[in-house]
Amino acid sequence: MKTISIVNQKGGCGKTTTAINLASSLGNNGKKVLLIDLDPQAHASLGLNVDSQDSIYNVISNLTPRKLKIQNIVKRVEDNFDIVPSNVLVGTLEQELSDEIGRELKLSEGINPIKGNYDYILIDCPPSLGILTINAIRLSDELIIPVETSRFSMQGVEHLMDIVRLVKDRLNHEVKCRVLITMFDSRLRHSFQMLATFREKFKEMLFDTIIHINVKLKESVVMGQSVALYDKYCRGSKDYNTLAKEQIFLDKKTDEKSSEEVLQSFSKKMQELVKEQTETFLQTQFTLDAPEAKNVYLTGSFNNWSLGKDDYRMRNNDGQWQVKVPLKPGVYEYQFIVDGVWMEDPDNPRRQKNQFGDNNSLVEVTTADSSV
Ligand SMILES: Nc1ncnc2c1ncn2[C@@H]1O[C@H](COP(=O)(O)OP(=O)(O)OP(=O)(O)O)[C@@H](O)[C@H]1O
Ligand SMILES: [Mg+2]
Repeated sequence: MKTISIVNQKGGCGKTTTAINLASSLGNNGKKVLLIDLDPQAHASLGLNVDSQDSIYNVISNLTPRKLKIQNIVKRVEDNFDIVPSNVLVGTLEQELSDEIGRELKLSEGINPIKGNYDYILIDCPPSLGILTINAIRLSDELIIPVETSRFSMQGVEHLMDIVRLVKDRLNHEVKCRVLITMFDSRLRHSFQMLATFREKFKEMLFDTIIHINVKLKESVVMGQSVALYDKYCRGSKDYNTLAKEQIFLDKKTDEKSSEEVLQSFSKKMQELVKEQTETFLQTQFTLDAPEAKNVYLTGSFNNWSLGKDDYRMRNNDGQWQVKVPLKPGVYEYQFIVDGVWMEDPDNPRRQKNQFGDNNSLVEVTTADSSV
C-alpha cells in the first residue's frame, strides 16, 4: 500500500484534477484506490458528483456531535475507486487541531482501519501549508507536486520543500517528492523553455509524463466525472493513464528493487519522445518592412489564425518588424495584421487565394532554419 499526497500551496495548479484522474486511472489499471478529499472547498468530491454531509471531519473532530468511523463515510465512485468526501467543516479542523497533542497524526489514525483495503491512497490537499497539509505529508510515502510551467510555481515548490524538510527534522518522517508538469501548452515556446528549466532543476524528481492543457479535463469536472469516463480517448485521459502507468512502474521498480537499467530505459524512451517533440520545432523568422506601422502581428494556420497573441506580436527594428516562431516542418499559410489591417507578405512571391478573395502567403518550414 502506498500513500501519495497531491500538494502545492499554490492555488489552481492542477492538484484536484490530478487527484481525481490519477485515482481513476490507477483504478482502470487494476489498482484499488482511495481518494481522500482534504480540501474544505471539496472540489474533488463535487468534481465526482459526491455531495456528502459527512466528511473526514466527522472522523477526526472531537467536537462534533456526529462522530463517525471512517468506514461509514467512504463512498464508491468507480470500480476500484472510493472517496472519503470533504465539506466546509473540514476547514474548522485547522483551528481545532492547533492545540491538540499528536495533531500531526490525526488523519493517519483516522484512516488506519481501512488502509489495508487499498493499493493506493491519494490525498487531495488544500492550497495551504496548514495542519491539514502537514497531516497529509506525515501520512504519505510520497508527494506529487503539480506545477504549471510558470516562474512563480517554481518558487512555490522551493517553499514546499522547506516544509518537507521540517517534517523530516521535527516529525522524523521522510517523504519522496515528485514534480508533475500540468497544463502544458505545447503551442507556446515559453512552455518548452520552462520545461528545460524544470528538468535541470528537478532532474529525476520530475515525472517523465507531462499533463497537457486539455479542455475535456475542465468539462469532466463540471459533469461530475473522471475524464476517462467523460471522454476516454481525449488527450487528458491519455495523459493521466500514462501517469498512472509511470507511477505503477516506479513503485514496482522500488518494490522489487529491480535493476536501475530498466528504469533508465523507460526514462530514456520518454525523454527521447519529449526531445523528438521539442526538437522538431524550428525557429522560423518572419519580417515585414513597415516603417509607418504602430503595431504588427503575425497570424496563420500555425496558430489557428488567432488574433493579438503576445507570442506573435512582431518587434520593431528600425521600421523592419520581426518575430521568430517555433514551427514543425510543413507548409503554412500566414498574413500580417498591420495596425488592425490584414495583408499578405509583400516580399513573398509564394501565395494562395483564400476564401475571402485575397491571398495568404505561404511558408515552407524544412529541416534547416527557415526565414521569410
Ligand atoms: N490539464 C488541464 N487542462 C485544462 N484545464 C485544467 C487542467 N488541469 C486543471 N485544469 C483546470 O484548471 C482549474 C484549476 O485546476 P484544479 O482545481 O485541479 O487546481 P487545484 O490546484 O486543485 O486548485 P485549488 O488550489 O483551488 O485546490 C480547474 O478549472 C481545472 O478544471
Ligand atoms: Mg483543488
